[in-house]
Amino acid sequence: MFETKLFWSIEFWSFRFVSNFDFRISDLHEVMALIKKGKSFKWHRKHLLGLRELSSEEIIYILDTAKGFEQISTRSVKKAPPLRGKVVVNMFFEDSTRTRNSFALAANRLSADIIEFTEKASSVSKGETLLDTARNLEAMGIDIVVIRHSAGGAAKLLSRNINACVVNAGDGFCEHPTQGLLDVYTIRKIKGTLEGLKIAIVGDIAHSRVARSDMWAMTKLGAEVIFVGPPTLMPSWASKLPVSVSYSLDEVIEKVDVINMLRIQFERLGGNPFPSVREYSHYFGLTLERMKRAKPDILVMHPGPINRGLEIESEVADGRNSVILDQVTNGLAVRMAVLFLVNQARAQQGKEAKHEKRIYPD
Ligand code: CP
Repeated sequence: MFETKLFWSIEFWSFRFVSNFDFRISDLHEVMALIKKGKSFKWHRKHLLGLRELSSEEIIYILDTAKGFEQISTRSVKKAPPLRGKVVVNMFFEDSTRTRNSFALAANRLSADIIEFTEKASSVSKGETLLDTARNLEAMGIDIVVIRHSAGGAAKLLSRNINACVVNAGDGFCEHPTQGLLDVYTIRKIKGTLEGLKIAIVGDIAHSRVARSDMWAMTKLGAEVIFVGPPTLMPSWASKLPVSVSYSLDEVIEKVDVINMLRIQFERLGGNPFPSVREYSHYFGLTLERMKRAKPDILVMHPGPINRGLEIESEVADGRNSVILDQVTNGLAVRMAVLFLVNQARAQQGKEAKHEKRIYPD
């Protein structure tokens, strides 16, 4: 990691002198602090597929790297050079507002070139497979693929079959790692730590990749997670995870420090998991009335998009405890950090591979 930070600081100085971008001396202090802090740790993953496989040290490392990138978005010229000359492909097979645009902006701010791939306007509609599509894009010289797909495991499949870095932007019900990271980043930024916090994740747990990634990130950082929802939206595997389960929002609302309201994923529901949306809202909606019983400093979160009036009342979503838009803002710094780190690991592994080849020629 020392190399990573050193590279960045060298880039920082050369950038400062050869461009008109708006870097300041305080940036140097920040970078130097990161160099010192990161001496003992080396990031090695060229893919980010999920948070389940990450250690707490790796998660904290991403969050700390994101902190360094947060400053860039506050400047008049919002650019830094680490991915200059690299190509990032946004490969989205499902709709997205936040994740897609956040990755595009993150790549842009790190000076990468971006290809926006859309399934509907591609040769996938003519029968081309996911792997063939990715391999053809790779033949054009791409460096990082950001993929969202309705099939669980799609990102992992790509990572095993292409040389580019792969970042999972949501795969089926499995994981949405950058959402999990930006959620813990947001909590940590406001509360200082996740250690000892009680966090309720409420709603459609069964179909939520956000619930899974959040749960891994939050518990690894020391929080206690409670899954809350109707039995019909609570997966059977919940009992095998490091969480507790409640079927009553009224029982947990007074106890928690953070509440993360999930969207009902109507597009993924097989049948009717509740009699009516009105009934769901009555028992599991975050209303102003319920908020009166919550801790005064409770953080109200939602990954978006929000179904206003269903899982959360508008007055709560826009209220003083809501950090929903902070989550979106923080997502940008987190995604910059992820793109930066996977690219750095790939560059390092490329160097090691070349080194091995020189020692043991064919
Ligand atoms: N939170 C989230 O993944 O939102 P999008 O579907 O808009 O990307």
